[in-house]
Amino acid sequence: MDYIKEIKRLRKKKNAVIMAHYYQCDEIQDIADYIGDSLALAQYAAKTDADIIVMCGVHFMGETAKILSPDKKVLVPDAEAGCSLADSCPADAFEAFIKDHPGHTVISYVNTTAAVKALTDVVVTSTNARKIVESFPEDEKIIFGPDYNLGNYINSVTGRNMLLWNGGCHVHERFSAEQILQLKRQYPDAKVLAHPECKRPVLLLADFVGSTAAILKYAAEADTKQFIVATESGILHQMRLQCPDKEFIPAPPSSPGCTCNECDFMRLNTLEKLYRCLRDETPEILVDEQVAQRAVKPILRMLELSK
Ligand code: 13P
Ligand code: SF4
Repeated sequence: MDYIKEIKRLRKKKNAVIMAHYYQCDEIQDIADYIGDSLALAQYAAKTDADIIVMCGVHFMGETAKILSPDKKVLVPDAEAGCSLADSCPADAFEAFIKDHPGHTVISYVNTTAAVKALTDVVVTSTNARKIVESFPEDEKIIFGPDYNLGNYINSVTGRNMLLWNGGCHVHERFSAEQILQLKRQYPDAKVLAHPECKRPVLLLADFVGSTAAILKYAAEADTKQFIVATESGILHQMRLQCPDKEFIPAPPSSPGCTCNECDFMRLNTLEKLYRCLRDETPEILVDEQVAQRAVKPILRMLELSK
């Protein structure tokens, strides 16, 4: 079976659009209509005129697309593609946390369930988190969840003192500062690029901290020729395509030979599953209407504040 040919045929026949996050496998990135970070995927989903959105990413990305485009059919290649960070913030526990700290504005990272977004005043992604936090008065009392490392990083660069939920991403928390330092000895001229979901010791070593899209842009524009990349290694595909004259070295996984610098949820999606999901129009993402009605407000507020 020529999956690529069949996916292209079905996409056209069904007026479907394929969106892929930078952490998808190379083959999916290569066939996607749009590749982007979480913010760009939400922006594309809000404005597409396709009948079907196939979100090659994880569940919360599909939910965000469905909330923004409720009349479209939103499919994901693998329904099990979740997110450890979203899982680290159950809606009922987050609601209790908010109740325990009255008078706070609630800012949630997009890596959350629709139910958590429904408890939120404004959603952020790693691309716009700093800008959106800084749009509030300096003395605004803010709860930030669920990523502790991102919240801690934003606190450190803005001087804010947001109250942080203690969640994290299992992929980014595994990068080790010691191993990156070892790599730096091997590549002394390399610049270290890190996603803000990494822990503080890794971020302190970084020459640049940013979202996947920001890291890609930085690498394309910098004069440097070598980069050590501390985020999910799927991003290296676009880096190598956009900068064929530069060298990108993935930050090492925590133990030799393991693939733990790959997100096992993102990597559940394959070309074959993408083909099947377009063919059978399943698994479909559905969001409870009442939850969606509340969750759409903080997402639209984010899109407005990102302009
Ligand atoms: P981006 O905002 O860079 O797309 O990050 C999403 C993500 O899941 C990081 O782990
Ligand atoms: Fe979630 Fe981490 Fe995977 Fe991103 S890399 S989707 S935060 S588990």
